[in-house]
Amino acid sequence: MAQFNLPANSVIGTGKTYYAGTGAKNVRRFHIYRWDPDGGENPRMDTYEVDLAACGPMVLDALLKIKNEMDPTLTFRRSCREGVCGSCAMNIDGTNSLACTKAIDDVTGEVKIYPLPHMAVVKDLVPDLTHFYAQYASIKPWLQTITPPPARERLQSKEDRAKLDGLYECILCACCSTSCPSYWWNGERYLGPSILLQAYRWIVDSRDEFTGERLDNLEDPFRLYRCHTIMNCTKTCPKSLNPAKAIAEIKKLMVERR
Ligand code: SF4
Ligand code: F3S
Ligand code: FES
Repeated sequence: MAQFNLPANSVIGTGKTYYAGTGAKNVRRFHIYRWDPDGGENPRMDTYEVDLAACGPMVLDALLKIKNEMDPTLTFRRSCREGVCGSCAMNIDGTNSLACTKAIDDVTGEVKIYPLPHMAVVKDLVPDLTHFYAQYASIKPWLQTITPPPARERLQSKEDRAKLDGLYECILCACCSTSCPSYWWNGERYLGPSILLQAYRWIVDSRDEFTGERLDNLEDPFRLYRCHTIMNCTKTCPKSLNPAKAIAEIKKLMVERR
């Protein structure tokens, strides 16, 4: 699997600067990673001067302003604009975050934006998540049962339902996995915090009847046990979830069933 932001032997060059107009009242500089892997050129950092007096408060507002008014070639993903779809995940000011929920005022000085670290790049700020989604599919993220379905829905007690809190909110943005050094080095075989949190979400679901098989699927030196409790995942999650705790809970279940 290709896992490089840069082609071999390349450096990030200095790119173009796009200046704010003379009437700009409150200028902030944005340095943004640009690379088209099919273009044959090295990556570069372009600089855009944005007038914050005529821009919304979030980093995504600035990116949209740049794309709409200065440089239509800038490429990034976004959809919901409210921290729900996970598509605008990128590295802002050194931290993996969602551009739509990251306030420009939370960044001191010039704003540096890169794609999520250690992923192949489709273009500019768009990471290639093909392998990440294949890993998600590998944990079978749906309810699996053997017993015939009841006439109405499969019920859950309030206590069992509460066990899903802190898990179901995950939006699969990949901010945590791409901040994890173990995932950087072993991403081909280690599932990473995001997918393991999702795996735990189904393991603790009281309605699921394949808990043993789900744990069997993770009983492997790489898929689960490459987590070394580094904690970057929990620190970076823009939804304030705790993937490190979910991984620890899976490890506990592994011990308990031996
Ligand atoms: Fe994103 Fe948090 Fe889910 Fe990781 S746990 S994928 S950072 S929402
Ligand atoms: Fe990585 Fe989080 Fe474990 S940063 S090593 S998944 S605690
Ligand atoms: Fe959906 Fe940012 S645009 S999470």
